Amino acid sequence: MISRADFVDPIPVGINAALGSMTAAQADALCSDWNFWARPNQEAPGGDWSTWLILAGRGFGKTRVGAEMVRRWVRDFPLVNLIGATAADARDIMIEGESGILALCPGQERPLYVPSKRRLDWPNGARSLIFTADEPERLRGKQHMKLWADEVAAWRRPEALQQALLGLRLGALPQMVITTTPKPVKILRELIANPETVLTRGSTYDNRGNLAPRFFESIIKRYEGTRIGRQELNAELLDDVEGALWSSTMIDSARVGHTPDMVRIVVAIDPATTSGEDSDETGIVVAGRGVDGHAYVLRDLSCRLSSNGWGNRAINAYREFGADRIVAEVNNGGNLVEDVLRVIDRTVSYKAVHASRGKVVRAEPISALYEQQRVHHVGLFGELETQMCSFVPDHLDGSPDRVDALVWALTELMLGFPGENLFEYYGGLLADQAAAGQAGGGTL
Ligand SMILES: Nc1ncnc2c1ncn2[C@@H]1O[C@H](COP(=O)(O)OP(=O)(O)O)[C@@H](O)[C@H]1O
Ligand SMILES: [Mg+2]
Repeated sequence: MISRADFVDPIPVGINAALGSMTAAQADALCSDWNFWARPNQEAPGGDWSTWLILAGRGFGKTRVGAEMVRRWVRDFPLVNLIGATAADARDIMIEGESGILALCPGQERPLYVPSKRRLDWPNGARSLIFTADEPERLRGKQHMKLWADEVAAWRRPEALQQALLGLRLGALPQMVITTTPKPVKILRELIANPETVLTRGSTYDNRGNLAPRFFESIIKRYEGTRIGRQELNAELLDDVEGALWSSTMIDSARVGHTPDMVRIVVAIDPATTSGEDSDETGIVVAGRGVDGHAYVLRDLSCRLSSNGWGNRAINAYREFGADRIVAEVNNGGNLVEDVLRVIDRTVSYKAVHASRGKVVRAEPISALYEQQRVHHVGLFGELETQMCSFVPDHLDGSPDRVDALVWALTELMLGFPGENLFEYYGGLLADQAAAGQAGGGTL
């Protein structure tokens, strides 16, 4: 019998002979036989577990494991549901992605994807309902026999997991497989600490043989030897770092689910100067200042896209949030961001900011605002928060583009030069004085 371990280089003659003697149908069956291909740390644990958490590096094969688990479960159970971080992730990664369900199920086993009903209909009558962590409300009251949740550490609204667990109660053995690269977030610490969780760990290197060399090289180049690389490649759950400007406790304790009314909203961009897989990210952060004078981080839309791609993202966010302006740093080569934005929307309100001080000096007063609990994250931003908690002055790990965008947004909202908007500034002062009972002291 051939086993996966025989697929070493060079392939022994016996294997070639065995493969050569297969019919096309047998070869196809072998290609899609997960029992054959799964590495030991991709195999489902034995016993009656209820939660299987796979914490592994990028490219390990997490999505593949989740999708294969769904494929196996639907043979015996009529309702096996999925939860993605966002609707786009559920569709593009879990269902239609290269390691998603449609790609790995051979023809006769492949479900029909019905996007309008957010459902997969399997040939044997089983169903998979598709949920997204951005809409925990849709999970309320829904029941599941088996569930697959992908990239949980990146869920903006982790309460979706609580909702899902409440509904995981159909059948004799409700089970959930969770596949994710870790981030230093509470939801993961709780899952790991839970004695009910069966934990499997793995690294990007485990799957090297199945990764396109370009993909492998580019993620290795980006992360190897860095602290964040320990998380992204080796799946370590990072603790707070001594000397970092932010800590996870600081962010967690001010986190909120809702905002008060906003007086001002900005979209800040820290552009990457090159595009493509190997390039830096373009940081895009949306934040607002509430009527209570506190800042609220509303969205992290950072991405690795061409300038047209990130430009559109920023402008869409500007419109969606009804933002007052977009801010970005003027770089050496001219005002790249403004040029990009004006092509897409001539009328967008844009302000160029100048980096007269270094990254760290700019970030320090923002970190102080967090310490005073005057900045709140609305939901969870795993990647951004990882960068923040790894931001150690003098030991900057790679290029913290998300943090840069965050710092620009909060500087604009909370530390802006008052002369720029006198009306708002003095209006604020008068309100403060009135609140402090100093009526009459407001001659401008
Ligand atoms: N055991 C395996 N044998 C063959 N290919 C695999 C195996 N595990 C993963 N892969 C492939 O490796 C690639 C990356 O897997 P993916 O599940 O997308 O990684 P992750 O979700 O961890 O980033 C996909 O093409 C997937 O099909
Ligand atoms: Mg994946």
